[in-house]
Amino acid sequence: MSMINKNSPIPIYYQLEEHIKELIEKGELKPGDVLPPEREYAEKHQISRMTVRQAFTQLVNEGYLHRIQGKGTFVAERKIEQGLQGLTSFTEDMKSRGLTPGNELLSFKLIPATLTIASQLSIKEYDPVYEIKRIRLADQLPMAVEVNHISANLIKGLTEQIVNQSIYHYIEESLGMRIHHAAQTIESSIANSLEAKHLHISTGSPVMLIQRNTFLKNGTPVEFVKSTYRADRYKFMITMNRS
Ligand code: GLP
Repeated sequence: MSMINKNSPIPIYYQLEEHIKELIEKGELKPGDVLPPEREYAEKHQISRMTVRQAFTQLVNEGYLHRIQGKGTFVAERKIEQGLQGLTSFTEDMKSRGLTPGNELLSFKLIPATLTIASQLSIKEYDPVYEIKRIRLADQLPMAVEVNHISANLIKGLTEQIVNQSIYHYIEESLGMRIHHAAQTIESSIANSLEAKHLHISTGSPVMLIQRNTFLKNGTPVEFVKSTYRADRYKFMITMNRS
């Protein structure tokens, strides 16, 4: 029997949308599953294909489904929700969700600071900085591309092996320094061809650009980081108090 009630004041596309969401939430439809074609839904529920398409489009926009041209409509991976209260590392974020963090190191260089980097890190132009480019993985799937700049005179002894794991862990546990606070901006953008390649998405897909300046307690900058996150795998959550 169809779960669509045509006499209800609730729009039909919305009823279908809620029905599919429920199947996903109950785990009856799993990430990667292909949905039956629009035509089948239309026939089964005696509704128009336009209505089915409207429900699918809405679910694609909300990140529940994704379309692959010529292949069909699939259940998307669940988004990772990240709280914006605590100052956490990528490694900690993934572990706290039961995912295995990983890195693909794109490059690791010691370079002279440009004027921009020097001002972000409160050092002099040409002072040595580590430039670290990594693809950040969760259960081996790419989530973000990150470019860190770190003053080599402050954070000593970084190696490829260390940055292939957790930079925050090295700073705190091996160097005994305390990362204290950060300022972070988040903005939306679209992936360029290189980012798309690294993140396994199509060029022009939505991404989130995150810039973080991290400091020690006394205000010394520890890092200046630009990250590009897949917008289909990530969402940010903030708790607000009205005082
Ligand atoms: C997040 C932040 C970066 C920070 C990184 C440290 O991804 N956006 O600013 O450098 O965590 O992560 P890890 O300690 O896993 O190297």
